[in-house]
Amino acid sequence: MGRVRDIRVSLTPDYLATDALSGSTAVAIDVLRATSTMLTALAAGARAVIPCATIEEARSVSVETRWAPTLLAGERAGRKIDGFDLGNSPAEFNPGAVKGKTIICTTTNGTLAILACRRADRVLIGAFVNFSTVCEQLAASEGTIHLVCAGTDGQPTLEDTLFAGAVIDYLSATGDINPNDAGRMAWDSFENHGRILSAAFEVSAGGDNLIRAGLAGDLKLCAAVDKLAIGAEVRFDPPRIEVATAGIKRQHWPHKNQGSLR
Ligand code: MLT
Repeated sequence: MGRVRDIRVSLTPDYLATDALSGSTAVAIDVLRATSTMLTALAAGARAVIPCATIEEARSVSVETRWAPTLLAGERAGRKIDGFDLGNSPAEFNPGAVKGKTIICTTTNGTLAILACRRADRVLIGAFVNFSTVCEQLAASEGTIHLVCAGTDGQPTLEDTLFAGAVIDYLSATGDINPNDAGRMAWDSFENHGRILSAAFEVSAGGDNLIRAGLAGDLKLCAAVDKLAIGAEVRFDPPRIEVATAGIKRQHWPHKNQGSLR
């Protein structure tokens, strides 16, 4: 019998047993919008993204690194933070704005999920925009896989769960897998909602927050499967996210179109 891949999904970082991370590869997931936006920034030429837990910490990192070209970015309640250069919309992170810059970033849930993964051997950044790259990074990795969903305001959220389910669906086709119960729930959820990604985002709590904030356009940007052919990885002490892989061998998304609920 070949190896069996253990896969552990945490529907929010609160469910993550951080002691179990040693020897594993973790994927931090905040589809709406932190990880989608960070990947967009790196693909647009940002040098790195520094994830911070709080607004105060982000401001103090910005002061400590004032000699370098940096931008302060992030959100609270979906909106740009007072005095920051950028919010958390992928549309803002174009080459004109971010090329060559280091982005110091704090978001409500996403940056916390990334920082919660720090004890893993490797921490990847996952979103639908780089789905196939993450699949290939994981297929080439060893040990247990932790798929760590940021959730929305402390609760599990559909779009992150769907991403975890999509990755499990891919891994199930590459060999024997052993998902935990949350992993099986995510996989089942993907079976139902994977074909209607944009519509699923619209009915999720995170999507609803964005629509109410007038940011509905971001849902489409974050549902653009494999728009970016980059992998990103987090190094710690101090935390810093950089491009780790450029280019995917092939696309692994199983659906031809994304349909609609409406
Ligand atoms: C978060 O970290 O909570 C999100 O990225 C929120 C948002 O959509 O801006």
